[in-house]
Amino acid sequence: MISFSVAFDPNRGIGKLGKLPWHIKEELAVFKRNTLGKNILMGQTTYDHMPGKLKDRHTIVVSIDPTYKVDDEDAEVIYDLLAFLKEHQDDETEYIICGGASIYRQAYPYAKKAYISFIKKEYEVDTYFDIFNIDEWNITKEVDHDEFVERELTRK
Ligand SMILES: NC(=O)c1ccc[n+]([C@@H]2O[C@H](COP(=O)([O-])OP(=O)(O)OC[C@H]3O[C@@H](n4cnc5c(N)ncnc54)[C@H](OP(=O)(O)O)[C@@H]3O)[C@@H](O)[C@H]2O)c1
Repeated sequence: MISFSVAFDPNRGIGKLGKLPWHIKEELAVFKRNTLGKNILMGQTTYDHMPGKLKDRHTIVVSIDPTYKVDDEDAEVIYDLLAFLKEHQDDETEYIICGGASIYRQAYPYAKKAYISFIKKEYEVDTYFDIFNIDEWNITKEVDHDEFVERELTRK
């Protein structure tokens, strides 16, 4: 199964200058809880801007560059995202798409589940998750936090 995890602001903003526009510890804890022990998939830009390795998760990095390698024994690189999505969309194993914008856009049609933090405040951003349409989803979990609402959704 393909799912995705994202945090976006009221304008669907997700990034600024290659990084997250906000620093919300509680939101990072939600991301950690949802992804621990699972397979996560992210674009090269997002991976390269992370402050450290993500422990106790298998990370799949998507790159267009055939010479790109990662120095992490719990990570691998794939070079053809669409082939990966088609091959694994019906697997029992969950693959959580973790951004960024270009990867979300391509993977969105394949996703059956979503973990979304709806950030309450508007931020200055340069990157969006604009393909998301709430009408296509049922909300199965909702938890209110100070700076965001944590929701889990399944595709209708
Ligand atoms: N708020 C959140 O939850 C969240 C989560 C993750 C990331 N973000 C933010 O999103 C921003 C980064 O997004 P981004 O779109 O710039 O970068 P990205 O999606 O992380 O990575 C793009 C990279 O993946 C490659 N790529 C894209 N599609 C591919 C495919 N089909 N096959 C092989 N390689 C492929 C791109 O190659 P090309 O250069 O050739 O296109 C590029 O090198 C950052 O600001 C980050 O902080 C936010």
